[in-house]
Amino acid sequence: MSYFGVDYYPEHWPSSQMEEDLTGIKGLGANMIRIGEFAWHVMEPKEGEFDFSYFDKVIEQAKAYEFKVMFGTPTATFPAWLAHKYPSILSKDEYGTVREFGGRRQYCFNSEEYREYSARITRELIKHYRNEEAIVVWQVDNEFGHEGSDQCYCEQCKRAFQKFLKEKYNDIHELNERWGTIFWGQTYNDFTEIPAPTPTITTHNPSLKLDWARFRSFSLNSYAHQMTEIVREEKGPHQEITTNVSGGFFDKWFDHEENLRPMDFVSYDNYPVWGGLEQPIPPSEIAMTLDFNRGLKGQNFWIVEELMGAQGHDVIGYLPRPNQAKLWSYQAFAHGCSNMLYFRWRGMTRGAEQFCYGVIDHDNRYGRKYHEVKDVFTEMSKYDQLLESPIEAEIAVLYDYDNIWSWRAQTQSKDFHFNQELMRLYQPFYDLNTKLDVIPADRDFSNYKVVLVPVMQVLNEELATRLKEFTKQGGTVIFSFRAGLKDKDNVINFGQTLPGPVADLTGIRVEEIESLTAEHRLSVKGEHDLSQEESYVNIWRDLIVPEGAETIYRYTDSLYKEYAAVTRNSYGDGEAFYIGGGLDVEGLRPLVKKVVENHNIDYEESPIGVEVYTRVVDEKEYQFIMNHTEEEVSYMNKVLAPYETQIVKK
Ligand code: GLA
Ligand code: ZN
Repeated sequence: MSYFGVDYYPEHWPSSQMEEDLTGIKGLGANMIRIGEFAWHVMEPKEGEFDFSYFDKVIEQAKAYEFKVMFGTPTATFPAWLAHKYPSILSKDEYGTVREFGGRRQYCFNSEEYREYSARITRELIKHYRNEEAIVVWQVDNEFGHEGSDQCYCEQCKRAFQKFLKEKYNDIHELNERWGTIFWGQTYNDFTEIPAPTPTITTHNPSLKLDWARFRSFSLNSYAHQMTEIVREEKGPHQEITTNVSGGFFDKWFDHEENLRPMDFVSYDNYPVWGGLEQPIPPSEIAMTLDFNRGLKGQNFWIVEELMGAQGHDVIGYLPRPNQAKLWSYQAFAHGCSNMLYFRWRGMTRGAEQFCYGVIDHDNRYGRKYHEVKDVFTEMSKYDQLLESPIEAEIAVLYDYDNIWSWRAQTQSKDFHFNQELMRLYQPFYDLNTKLDVIPADRDFSNYKVVLVPVMQVLNEELATRLKEFTKQGGTVIFSFRAGLKDKDNVINFGQTLPGPVADLTGIRVEEIESLTAEHRLSVKGEHDLSQEESYVNIWRDLIVPEGAETIYRYTDSLYKEYAAVTRNSYGDGEAFYIGGGLDVEGLRPLVKKVVENHNIDYEESPIGVEVYTRVVDEKEYQFIMNHTEEEVSYMNKVLAPYETQIVKK
């Protein structure tokens, strides 16, 4: 059975309001509420005085409506008395400025006091409700690392960083050697001399920056796992554990697969538009975020915060059009969401989120959004089996956080963004309505037909070997630029022409390189069966000399028209493409369509803005046909109104 519901904050309203609220939530067709994730002070108003009586009453009333409950552990917002007693729990930004009490998540993961007090409230809470049959899921904290909370540059973190390095390298001479601290005379005699990468003149050592990123990930994940272990120890056997992943996951300083490892399932907060954005992120990028979350554990996931109203703190922007947030909900279900809670039941009148509009607004009326949510729950409650059915993709997109952090340490082009470069390869496959998994590079990808490897500059021999084996067995691999530049220390490979460990696989040599801006577009011309194609690259270009590979596109500027821009190399029973720059999606389309057809991968050609996603249940096919535009569209003898979704049994 799937859960459908809302995020509910009864503690924000008079208790007299609860009856009416629970009746209204029930009227949606809901069977779950999420509560508690910011209510530490309600449960421990004074140090050591635990009082769960308020939430006991909330749960009793919720049970009268037969709601199940997801309960959030409240460590994302600690009480003022704790910060007052231990100011050292407050994190610091790179300038040494304390993140003052008053927001949220402003705690330091390396504060021993914070770990002690948050472990205690977590343990007391779970012990109190371990036998509560209505509570079926614990959510650990809230959106780990979001809003800049994954970084802290305080003294505790600096000392913990030095300890982290000592355990990794053991010998300071090894660190000096691998980091190349001889450069600019930075040789360390002792680990205690090593700084956190706070602002300096020009820039820090790239190996230090990458190890600092790994340390941030270690700090956050060891805290998250410590809290999760407590929940696991104390919870009842009928209760599961999750945590909610926020958007912007490629811009975070922690490995999400590692973060979710001890959890029973992944939960995601789906906000296609947030804050002052003029427009939502494109439908293809929303789809990628959903595929990323499904990829974290290779299984369907929950959404515990689905956007329904405009959202923001001090600034808000675009208003989701009628049925558009409903469409985003269906898109999430199509891509593997199995249970959904909307954020939030009613917008709050006081505090920092007055402009985070909910299912209903401050006027307490049940309007358009209420009925859109009710429609979604009514429709999707018919598809329990479909929602649980697995999604079998034949195309995988690989990412690796070491590689992402290496790029963030030195973007090389002022307009480089990892997300943009992953989307560059993802987009044309999405536009053909194929299914894609977005997975960590260390996952086994041998059973896919196509593997996309966006800007994998940190690419070691182990990954190169698996990619060669995959291709030899008949797979298609598509690299984009800068592949194979560096090793895992963020050091450029010595004595290797690019693309380093995948040079033989790609059958090319990169002779020179040029960083480009977004505006600096260089034209490329197709060859052979793409001879009619013209396109351009921006952001970057590799000047390629084929060594066995065939040229697909070549540069046209006079001094460089001898060089290839895009190549294809036969390798074993498969093929390896190398996209040597930020190739425009139109230039990629013909190549992608051929790859999809050659591998007999199911695809649909739909009008721009119409997304088609097919799910299979007991060999029956169900197609989600989603109109992401504000125009009426026709597709396969169906007419879809603006932002309409139709689920069609084929
Ligand atoms: C995040 C948080 C919620 C709330 C919403 C507002 O997703 O998890 O607590 O702040 O944003 O949009
Ligand atoms: Zn710190």
